[in-house]
Amino acid sequence: MLIAPSLLSCDFSVFGEEIARVDRAGADIMHLDVMDGHFVPNLTFGAPVIKKLRKYTQKPFDVHLMISEPYRYIGDFADAGADMISFHTESDSDIGATLGLIEECGVKPALAIKPGTPPEVILPYLDRLYMVLVMTVEPGFGGQGFMADMMPKVEYLREEIAKRNLNTLIEVDGGIAANTIAVAAKAGVDICVAGTAVFGAPDAEQAIKNLKSLCE
Ligand code: DX5
Ligand code: ZN
Repeated sequence: MLIAPSLLSCDFSVFGEEIARVDRAGADIMHLDVMDGHFVPNLTFGAPVIKKLRKYTQKPFDVHLMISEPYRYIGDFADAGADMISFHTESDSDIGATLGLIEECGVKPALAIKPGTPPEVILPYLDRLYMVLVMTVEPGFGGQGFMADMMPKVEYLREEIAKRNLNTLIEVDGGIAANTIAVAAKAGVDICVAGTAVFGAPDAEQAIKNLKSLCE
């Protein structure tokens, strides 16, 4: 299992150092939550902040766009150093055009679905995706409870990926902790985002090791 700490739960007054800290603690991927106060009822940070953070780690930047118009900002996030960009099927941008723009920018494309969205909406695009992000909480805030009833979506997508002989990764985001990660692993998840479980722990390295060991 790959662990992607969600920086949403870090100490933003020392954002760069927090990235370096979870890098040393064994994070595989840095998950960066971008919120616009419109697609979700919360605001975080944008491309200029991510650009400044790029120098704190060599690990991949997984940029999760919870914004209404992802198409408008893809170039900015690519330029800021995103390795992968996820945007929501429920956003206002055209899905095919936005994926095309991400591809043109040389960034790995991913599609995200909220808890209320069926996995079938992903199917027409699946062959183009580096990753599918299945939300296991309503997007907007860290620290919410894991929705285990999203696991059938993971299983469904896992099966479809195998059927088509693809390498598409499946990521889950929200409520991943020591008591929930095994369920995600069993369903066939490749990458677990974890905010509270990493940043709320006294020792991030121990927390990441523990999460990984619970998947074996
Ligand atoms: C929620 C964000 C998540 C969030 C996860 O909208 O997309 O990445 O930070 O936080 P935890 O792990 O605390 O649920
Ligand atoms: Zn996220």
